Amino acid sequence: MATLDLQMVNKSFGSAKVLHDINLSIRDREFVVFVGPSGCGKSTLLRIIAGLEEATSGAIVIDGQDVSGLHPVDRGISMVFQSYALYPHLTVFENIAFPLRVQKVAEPELSQRVERAAEILKLTDRLTHKPGQLSGGQRQRVAIGRSIVRNPKIFLFDEPLSNLDAALRGDMRVELAQLHKELNATMVYVTHDQIEAMTMADRIVVLKDGFVEQFGTPMELYHHPQTKFVAGFIGQPNMNLVPATVKGGDDTGLHVELDGGTALSLPVDHAGAKAGDRVEVGIRPENVRLSENDIGLALQVSVLERLGGQSMTYGHIADTTRFCAALDGDAAIAEGGQITLEVDPADCHVFAGDGKVMRRKKAPNLVK
Ligand SMILES: Nc1ncnc2c1ncn2[C@@H]1O[C@H](COP(=O)(O)OP(=O)(O)O)[C@@H](O)[C@H]1O
Ligand SMILES: [Mg+2]
Repeated sequence: MATLDLQMVNKSFGSAKVLHDINLSIRDREFVVFVGPSGCGKSTLLRIIAGLEEATSGAIVIDGQDVSGLHPVDRGISMVFQSYALYPHLTVFENIAFPLRVQKVAEPELSQRVERAAEILKLTDRLTHKPGQLSGGQRQRVAIGRSIVRNPKIFLFDEPLSNLDAALRGDMRVELAQLHKELNATMVYVTHDQIEAMTMADRIVVLKDGFVEQFGTPMELYHHPQTKFVAGFIGQPNMNLVPATVKGGDDTGLHVELDGGTALSLPVDHAGAKAGDRVEVGIRPENVRLSENDIGLALQVSVLERLGGQSMTYGHIADTTRFCAALDGDAAIAEGGQITLEVDPADCHVFAGDGKVMRRKKAPNLVK
């Protein structure tokens, strides 16, 4: 059992405030990913949880106990870093055993715990090797093994896959997800990579400038981004943002005109918006399709990427707004041409001038 609660955590380095009123409740056995751009405070928050850094104010609570004053080793937490920090002169066995040697764990328990970790991580036939004889992925697994043998209540990972090449990162993502299932442990994982966040997390915390922008399941964030920032960060290729002017509102929703002239009636709450307000309409590339009757958004195509199953179509609408459409692989389109796209208003997101989403009238079906 290991729940983790962060209560009003703030952190300043001198006069620079880097974390603001962080409140999060992480459930037992949950895999939570902190994601956000470089410098947003992810590592600092993780280090505060681990006890490697002290919060300026606020509390870290594990299983209902405030551990804010506890030494890192007394928190029942272990952390895996981006740099593997292995001892080059020690074997894989001794690298994994290292924390147990420090704790003076005796044989045969020590060997049993190391061998079990090696088995989980598929390193059994590498135990006598030195780190220099291993691939990058295997080295990262040794570093994870060193965490596993300590039987921590909570695993913390700080960008553990960033040093690996793209193909290996993909493999390790699957392995870490599998590891989470096998160990049944609470895990907090930091990354700047939204694909890692989407694929591994039970729930994602999106951080920006030291604030929590949103905390939710991957599909909640995808379907219901609360801010323009989350909308742009989650989903690949990024959501298109088309500037628009509010024309009015009524019971059916908000009426806008996209720059370039297309009128749309969107099922969002119009309260708070008045005619003339400038907003942005968010449209995901995968939510548009070719119009059969030439009514819709006119897209001037500049670059076409035929991926096989999909045709990624890049260009501009209204001359100035960049737009990407993910169309069928065989779609009859060409670079330099103009096409007309249609979109279901229920798939549009509307962001007010402050970057916050305007509330929907009716939620679309959520895929869990
Ligand atoms: N020890 C430190 N002293 C001063 N500033 C720091 C220190 N550690 C981190 N920072 C600052 O705090 C902010 C958040 O850093 P960090 O948590 O490392 O971000 P991330 O991991 O999201 O890239 C950055 O602006 C960084 O420069
Ligand atoms: Mg970091």
